[in-house]
Amino acid sequence: MKIPGARPSFSKEDINEIVSQVTKSLESGILSSSTNVKEFEKQFSNYVGQKYPIATNSGTSALEASVRALDIKNSEIIVPTNTFIASPNSIINSGNIPVFADMEEDSFAINLGSVREKITKNTKAVMVVHIAGLVHPKIEELKEFCKEKGLYLIEDCSHVEGAELGNKKAGTFGDVSCFSFYATKVMTSGEGGIVLTNNEEIYNRGRMFISHGRNFQSDQEEYIEVGTNLRMSELNAIVGLQQLKHLEEFIKKRNEIVKTLKEKLQGLLTFQVHPSNAKHSYYKLLGVHQKETLDLIKTMRSKYEIEVASLYYPPCHLQPVYRKLGHKEGECPVAENVLKRLIALPIFVDMTEEQMDFLSSSIKKELA
Ligand SMILES: Cc1ncc(COP(=O)(O)O)c(C=O)c1O
Repeated sequence: MKIPGARPSFSKEDINEIVSQVTKSLESGILSSSTNVKEFEKQFSNYVGQKYPIATNSGTSALEASVRALDIKNSEIIVPTNTFIASPNSIINSGNIPVFADMEEDSFAINLGSVREKITKNTKAVMVVHIAGLVHPKIEELKEFCKEKGLYLIEDCSHVEGAELGNKKAGTFGDVSCFSFYATKVMTSGEGGIVLTNNEEIYNRGRMFISHGRNFQSDQEEYIEVGTNLRMSELNAIVGLQQLKHLEEFIKKRNEIVKTLKEKLQGLLTFQVHPSNAKHSYYKLLGVHQKETLDLIKTMRSKYEIEVASLYYPPCHLQPVYRKLGHKEGECPVAENVLKRLIALPIFVDMTEEQMDFLSSSIKKELA
């Protein structure tokens, strides 16, 4: 029985609706920057509760657009080392320097003490990454700290569509927030992303950047900066709109699956904390073992065809690309120690009881 690392959920009705909307779009001949993208921007930003949305063709694009939108150049941006490589890469691609901070051992979120240590005169922003469905439990403290130091706060919400902390949605804490709708995420548009902000200036700069640097205030076709094209297509927006209808139900289902898996694996792994004021969207279920899990992950994949994974090992600062830039062991000791003992269990909406049993019994067998 194969268990994929992730699997998007589309009912028969969803597929019919998507096909019908795609057909309409193809018949109209208008495949970009039209009603579906606008509707997706409107519905997603309303759902999160932010004023200005910019739909993009990926989460990576959303991250770069948001840094560009803040108009930061040649500056340091603090980012956790335990994130997908796109987070620090977006900092470099926007002409800035990523500075890696360490993580908390229980939430896997960026460590505030480490952020404080890494600040220099050249720091302009902190990019927080909410991990695996959990909004950083200390996000208010981090927000306050950024305000006090005059730093922008960028939220990478790629893992946390619909998640909340203290009844506040992921994506409402930062000056700007970015989401990914890649096919493995809590909701998907195939490929896609979105930038959200409440600040009109940030919005205008972001919109300009993803549209070749176009000045939308001018009635002529005028380009005022070097931008690029990172726009979402109508077809991706159609898929995203259909998924958004089910997001709450997806999150509920993910929480139910996690409850079952945690019961089955009780005592074997130390799971990511789930504070009582958090609505977790469980992109993945993260557990830490006393011993290294790197071989366990390989065995689970080869022997059982279960796509468990690491999240994220090696951490970004030890990836060859960042070693080449001078990063090395000792920079983020908690991440270096914990991430090699971590295992990310797949969670997807249509996971069956049988798959949950197989997943937990196989892990139990290998850990015995
Ligand atoms: C934390 C994080 N940031 C950024 C991204 C990039 O998103 P995308 O794959 O949509 O470009 C991802 C997802 O893959 C991610 O997990």
